[in-house]
Amino acid sequence: MKYPKEYLDEIKTRLKVSSVVSKFVTLKKRGKEFVGLSPFKNEKTPSFTVNDEKEFYHCFATSEHGNIFDFVMKTQNLRFGEAVKYLANLAGMQPYIFSKQDEEREKKWKIYLSIYSQYVNFYHDQLLKNDSSLIARDYLKGRSLDKHQVKKFKIGYVDKNPNFFEKLKVEFNNEDILETGLFYFDERNKIYVERFKGRLIFPINNISGQPIALGGRIIEKNDFFAKYINSPETPFFKKGSNLYNLDLARKLSNKLENIFLVEGYMDVVGLSKNGIENAVANLGTSLTEKQIFTLNQFFDDIIICFDGDESGYKAALRAAENSIKDLKPEKQISFLFLPDKEDPDSFVNKNGKNYFLDFSKQNKISIHQFIFKHYEKNTKNDPSSMAIFDKKLRSIANSIKDSFIKKYVLEYFLEKISELTPHTSQNRKNFSFKKTKSLEKTKKHFNESKSLSGVELKEFSLIYLIINNLDLIQQNIHMVENIKLFTEVNKQIFEKILNKLKSSEQLTIDQMEIDNQLIDKISKFAPIKHILKNKSEDEHVIVELLDDIGRDLNNYDLEFRIQELESKFSKDLSETTFNELKELKKKQNIN
Ligand code: CTP
Ligand code: MN
Repeated sequence: MKYPKEYLDEIKTRLKVSSVVSKFVTLKKRGKEFVGLSPFKNEKTPSFTVNDEKEFYHCFATSEHGNIFDFVMKTQNLRFGEAVKYLANLAGMQPYIFSKQDEEREKKWKIYLSIYSQYVNFYHDQLLKNDSSLIARDYLKGRSLDKHQVKKFKIGYVDKNPNFFEKLKVEFNNEDILETGLFYFDERNKIYVERFKGRLIFPINNISGQPIALGGRIIEKNDFFAKYINSPETPFFKKGSNLYNLDLARKLSNKLENIFLVEGYMDVVGLSKNGIENAVANLGTSLTEKQIFTLNQFFDDIIICFDGDESGYKAALRAAENSIKDLKPEKQISFLFLPDKEDPDSFVNKNGKNYFLDFSKQNKISIHQFIFKHYEKNTKNDPSSMAIFDKKLRSIANSIKDSFIKKYVLEYFLEKISELTPHTSQNRKNFSFKKTKSLEKTKKHFNESKSLSGVELKEFSLIYLIINNLDLIQQNIHMVENIKLFTEVNKQIFEKILNKLKSSEQLTIDQMEIDNQLIDKISKFAPIKHILKNKSEDEHVIVELLDDIGRDLNNYDLEFRIQELESKFSKDLSETTFNELKELKKKQNIN
């Protein structure tokens, strides 16, 4: 009887490998792993390692390897069911009680697996030995594949007039045979037809190496049929959950950090023929979160290597945008782009293993670099295009679930964006320098007039500067006309003055018809006058001060929001607040 995967997974998530193992072996932490003396061998120096993240133990002395169930079975001499009971108890879970449905499913699975195994074995043998498979053997020869690959991947060939249904019928009922998806019922002719006839077949295995579906390639040039077909979904095969060759490739996860994720069956086979065994294919569907998750359980570094054509590029982009969400610290996803018209199979066959690996080292780019480059390429150097670009990258960064990764990816994007706008970045340095200077000087005076708000005082300074330099402002009206004021009264005066300056010739302040009391108040409190006192009031200084005040006022709103967020952040310490804060500060610097 088979335990449901969910139940076993629950046990695994509750129990770290190290906590199970340490009940029997003394472990010491070393880096990411634990080490201890092997329980499988008498030894003096530890060669037994446990990796919680990868959920397995490995003994370098005996090559024993496995998960918590294997460990308990092997060291305590228990059968699987007993090991499950023991570990469930350790995990504080109820023993599993099999229901009628479980039993039914278990029965179905056994039948399914039996049909698949017979089918795969039969056509594999046919390909190797039968005369009717000559055409397929020639085809493989043409692609310079030999028995080694055929055997390793258990490739088969279903001839054009197959008759396997009759054989299966002896042992299984029609319903069970149909459920495998290996046949379909032709309503018109009332016969069962082999879905994969005339095709090379590539068994798709579950993680334990049992066949659960097929991919089939046509070998004769033909415009009517698809080049590849896959098994339909069945109760035991769900598209997007499996990866071709994962059952074999995962065994290398102890030796190799990375795994190549490619598009096609032939890419996996071609790479393997050239000595690159750490490759899996995602079976012609777009990459799913589940597939990335599964790969990450075995490998820290996924290299996505799709075909060097437009559809490969598009698939890669889709994969990137989907999988960046689930990026985790210590895990990497990168992309390798092959030259135009090449796929991993053709490229490795042309250039060999070492060149391929070298090329991959030199040319792979990490997922965030790829995403940035893609959008950068499609962005024109105009404000609207840049704004869309900026927004898009932020929203991608925001989709990342892990908060640390999110932070760093966002930082990377913003950094790169600022490199793209050297003008703003250059100014930024000067501005912040000037700004701190003027703020320092005016701060004292701000404090002397506490009844007035900071922003009001700034506005006073602006108006003060204007009314005392009417000629200069009139000639350089552009310097002030875009400044934004906040206080209603000041805004009104400011606009009145501007209009006057724009419309008439030479004017004095008396001709401005402004409330005298207000003018007095401004003259009394405008902090700027304290600065001007000791300075020669030459035009250069005035222009610079106006520039400062204008920018300060434009920043005022931003500053206010930053203060609010800072106090919020000091209370909630939340990632979202922090990110909002950072973005505002960034904006403030750019202004
Ligand atoms: N595929 C599919 N249906 C198709 C074409 C492709 O499901 N009509 C999937 C298959 O999983 C195939 C993969 O997409 O392995 C890549 O397709 P393609 O690049 O066209 O094939 P190659 O891998 O280059 O195979 P070959 O070299 O045999 O042409
Ligand atoms: Mn190909």
